[in-house]
Amino acid sequence: MSLLIAPSILAADLGRLADEIARAEAGGCDVFHVDVMDGHFVPNLSFGPAVVDTVRRLTRLPLDVHLMLDNPRDFIAPFCDAGSTFLTVHVEVIPPNELPAVFDDIRSRGVRPGLTLNPETPVDTVLPFLAEVDLLLVMSVHPGFGGQVFIEDTYGRLTAVEDHAAAVNPGLVISVDGGVGPENARDLVRAGANQLVAGTTVFRDHGAGENVRLLRAAAEAD
Ligand code: DX5
Ligand code: ZN
Repeated sequence: MSLLIAPSILAADLGRLADEIARAEAGGCDVFHVDVMDGHFVPNLSFGPAVVDTVRRLTRLPLDVHLMLDNPRDFIAPFCDAGSTFLTVHVEVIPPNELPAVFDDIRSRGVRPGLTLNPETPVDTVLPFLAEVDLLLVMSVHPGFGGQVFIEDTYGRLTAVEDHAAAVNPGLVISVDGGVGPENARDLVRAGANQLVAGTTVFRDHGAGENVRLLRAAAEAD
C-alpha cells in the first residue's frame, strides 16, 4: 500500500480553511484528518458535524474523522451524514462485546469503521478487531492537543498491529497520530504505519503544500 499523508485540520488556520486545504492538496496529501473532542474524554473541545460538512464541501479527498468522545455511539449518525469517509472510535469507551455492533452501524451508513487506542492502552485490546475495521489508529501522544512530543513506545505498537494485520486484514490502513514529522516519518513507516497524520508539521508557517512534500520525501527516503 502506498503511503497516505493525512493533514490534521486541528492545526490549520481556520480563518483560511479553504486555502489551507487547497494548499495541502496541491502538495499531494491523500486524506484530511478531523479531530472531534468533547471536553470529557479529552480535556479540549474542537469540531462537530457542521465542520465535517464544511470540510466535505471544500475537498473531494477522503475524510478521516477521529472521535475523541465518551459517547461516540450517540454521534455516529450525524458524523456519517456529514460526509465522513472513515469514522474512528476509541477502544477505551466501548465494551469489547459491543464493538462489532458499532462497526456494523457505521458500515451500514456507507462509512468505513476505524478503531483507535490511547498510548497507555495495551495494544492487545485492539488486535481481536483488526479484521472488522478498515483503519486502526495508533495514538502517539495523549489525545487532546496538537503540537505534543511523540511517544517513542509507538514503534513497537505499530509493529504489533502490522504483524497481526498481515494475517487477518492485509488492506488495513495503519495510521499514526501525534508528534509526526520528517524526523520520525521514515521510522514510523518501517515500523508498520501506512498513513501519517500530521497537524503542526503540515500547517506550520502557512506552508502546507511544501510541508506535505517534505513529510512524504522524509517518509519515503531510502
Ligand atoms: C491529538 C489529535 C491529533 C493532532 C495531531 O489529540 O488526535 O490528530 O491534531 O497534532 P500534531 O501533528 O501537531 O501532533
Ligand atoms: Zn487525531
